Amino acid sequence: MRLVLLGAPGSGKGTQAARLKEHLQVPHISTGDLLRAEVAAGSKLGLAAKEVMARGELVSDEILLGMLEDRFSRPDTRGGFILDGYPRNLAQADALDKLLTRIGQPFDFAVQLDVPTELLVERIAGRAAAEGRADDTPESVRTRLKVYDGHTAPVIDYYRQHGHLTVVDGVGSLDEVFTRIIEAISPVKEIG
Ligand code: AP5
Repeated sequence: MRLVLLGAPGSGKGTQAARLKEHLQVPHISTGDLLRAEVAAGSKLGLAAKEVMARGELVSDEILLGMLEDRFSRPDTRGGFILDGYPRNLAQADALDKLLTRIGQPFDFAVQLDVPTELLVERIAGRAAAEGRADDTPESVRTRLKVYDGHTAPVIDYYRQHGHLTVVDGVGSLDEVFTRIIEAISPVKEIG
């Protein structure tokens, strides 16, 4: 199964990807996690990304593509993947198409987790209190939501127009949302 998981900040991409990884036995590739690992390691890339992430803006397309190419060159992605957090703009969607075509691994489904904004804000506030992630400040969250509307929503429209999009209601318990995703992707799972 080759899955692209889309959705606004706080929609549950990371949470559901962790469960899907176990269920589908494919790696979870989160560009946010990859970037946070670089920041934690204090690498050159991490230093370049740190402030941009803290502000809630997008890290450069060039950095992201390099990181993704590197990740997809690892053999564990050959049996499938769950991609979380990429693409986030139309240029990244185009780069992803080209990359996956080149490696002969086009995605089966782009699944969008649909959650109303008030609930997104509530969930992120909950995580901020529990975990204190550097970009879960009210100001950064506002920027992330704006960036999502301005840059990532067009990617969703693009996938919808090309018939690649499956929208899943992301409101409900973790189990309910997980079951909806599994149902949404099951036709491909049975064939593949
Ligand atoms: P990234 O890490 O991708 O953050 P994000 O998109 O803002 O997503 P979140 O992690 O906030 O939300 P999520 O949808 O994963 O929800 P989660 O499952 O955690 O990116 C961070 C930054 O990195 C970006 O701002 C950017 O700077 C940079 N970046 C990353 N990718 C990039 C790219 N491609 N290009 C450029 N820059 C990039 O859930 C959130 C909370 O809700 C959790 O506490 C969870 O427990 C809770 N929750 C989840 N589901 C439910 C539920 N059903 N019911 C109740 N609570 C729930």
